[in-house]
Amino acid sequence: MKGKKEKKIKITPIEHGTVIDHIKAGQGMKVLRILDLVDTDIDSIVSMAMNVKSSKGKKDIVKVEDKELKNEEFDKISLISPNATVNIIRGYEVIEKHRVEIPDLARGIVRCKNRNCITNQREPVESEFEVIDEEPVRLKCTFCERELVGEEISEHVI
Ligand code: CTP
Ligand code: ZN
Repeated sequence: MKGKKEKKIKITPIEHGTVIDHIKAGQGMKVLRILDLVDTDIDSIVSMAMNVKSSKGKKDIVKVEDKELKNEEFDKISLISPNATVNIIRGYEVIEKHRVEIPDLARGIVRCKNRNCITNQREPVESEFEVIDEEPVRLKCTFCERELVGEEISEHVI
């Protein structure tokens, strides 16, 4: 048992903010990027742990202190890491736990990769994709039918 205990990674709890847990291992950086937590002058303390051992293999964890995420942000995370949970922490306690859910339609959160798509012109047309598969996530543009699959999606998250 001793050996097992030594291997356990201790991660500091936070007092207030959001913990995005069960992120697919390797996707933590992308979560930071899509939440605009990289290269900005936000005041929150942000931390990330990669390759944390969990009962279901390895995972990444992102903690954002003093910030509670919005719904639109949950949807973005779901497209790149469908099993993630978003935990809202207040007074060191988990007061809300949401499992992110892949929406049926992804509006305004992913850019179409077709340069000629109407959503990439100077028109005020919001991008819209139908989610046509979940494992891996497959999106189809409502306007030009171009598809985006798996890894490509995180590169096109707005
Ligand atoms: N956490 C934190 N600070 C706190 C409370 C929790 O950083 N004050 C983190 C935990 O380390 C964990 C996540 O928030 O990564 C969820 O916490 P909790 O629900 O207590 O953990 P579990 O029960 O293991 O969650 P799950 O069942 O979703 O795996
Ligand atoms: Zn398109």
